[in-house]
Amino acid sequence: MSKAEVLFISQEEEVKCGLLDMKMIMEEVEKAFVMMGKGEVKNPPKVKLGLPENHDWMTFFNSMPTWLGGEENIAGFKWAAESKYNVTENNGLPLGVDIVVLSDPHTVMPKAIMDGTIITAMRTSAVAGIAAKYLAPKGSKTACLVGAGVIGRTMVMAMMEALPELNTIYMADLKIEKCQKLAEEFKDQITIIASDSVEESVKEADVIVTATTAGKPIVLKDWITKEKVTFIQMSGYEMDLQIGLASKKYVDYYAQMMTFTDKLLYDMVENHGVKPEEITEISQLATKEKSGRQDEDGWITCMTMGMGMQDIIVANKLYKNAMEKGLGTKLTYWENPLWV
Ligand SMILES: NC(=O)c1ccc[n+]([C@@H]2O[C@H](COP(=O)([O-])OP(=O)(O)OC[C@H]3O[C@@H](n4cnc5c(N)ncnc54)[C@H](O)[C@@H]3O)[C@@H](O)[C@H]2O)c1
Repeated sequence: MSKAEVLFISQEEEVKCGLLDMKMIMEEVEKAFVMMGKGEVKNPPKVKLGLPENHDWMTFFNSMPTWLGGEENIAGFKWAAESKYNVTENNGLPLGVDIVVLSDPHTVMPKAIMDGTIITAMRTSAVAGIAAKYLAPKGSKTACLVGAGVIGRTMVMAMMEALPELNTIYMADLKIEKCQKLAEEFKDQITIIASDSVEESVKEADVIVTATTAGKPIVLKDWITKEKVTFIQMSGYEMDLQIGLASKKYVDYYAQMMTFTDKLLYDMVENHGVKPEEITEISQLATKEKSGRQDEDGWITCMTMGMGMQDIIVANKLYKNAMEKGLGTKLTYWENPLWV
């Protein structure tokens, strides 16, 4: 008898398992970076299916397989998708919609199928939080967040977690009402100053984070007057080239970033003489192989495109919590495999 079951875990159940606990998510994601640094992770670069065209997409689907060894011992896959129609058609759906599958790396049997949408938002901002923890100017009190969408909300959570002295967030979006809504939502925890001007919002910031759908540089070098600033870019090309070139450079995953030929890192390396050895991966910070911001450092830019390992380690934690709490719906995968 080899009946097989798979646990389906909804977004609401994931919330009950700790999904919105940014401290926990940052710890899990940093653990994944440490494992990556120790060679305990397999995470090939994501494969992108853009429709109608890869660069000029209206919707895309990314295939993101991962294996995490050590005590995690889990294989998993995120099917990550975004739709620009969801933004323009006001259809009640987010830009990004994701699903995660967890599998046993030994038998290869699926263990769980779970919503990956908020996992993505939480882990994406957790990566920015980890970057800020290592790279932000000491005692940073002000941050500017550009983009008040789904990632913008989790970014507020991550910056509050990463920067203990943070007291003001300047938040800019084309739609100022989205910044105002977040200012109201977080008013008991932090002061958020809403604006529709990126130029005005970046001026006072020690840390500048972009998470927009702009698709072109929206933070310009000439606007930045502070000597020590950390720029963290979540979409591919939001900081202008001159900011990147004038900064010490960090990434989540160099090999993957170089597969995105229309993005900032690729442009700097291929067209502007930046050498691969000038670029540090976050995993090297997490393992302490390299140190974070030094006293003499001025501008630092960290660029991320996201990795399956970040999703899978969080999903595995939530799956374990769901098993412990008896949450999720068991689905029969098969009563007996038809052919063995
Ligand atoms: N690095 C990663 O791991 C990772 C993971 C997931 C998503 N992302 C990226 O993060 C970005 C944000 O995702 P989201 O789910 O929050 O999207 P969203 O649609 O919920 O929010 C995007 C926000 O950006 C604003 N915006 C667009 N152009 C702007 C401009 N020129 N100036 C100011 N604001 C502007 C929009 O008004 C919107 O509020 C997307 O580009 C997405 O691809 C990155």
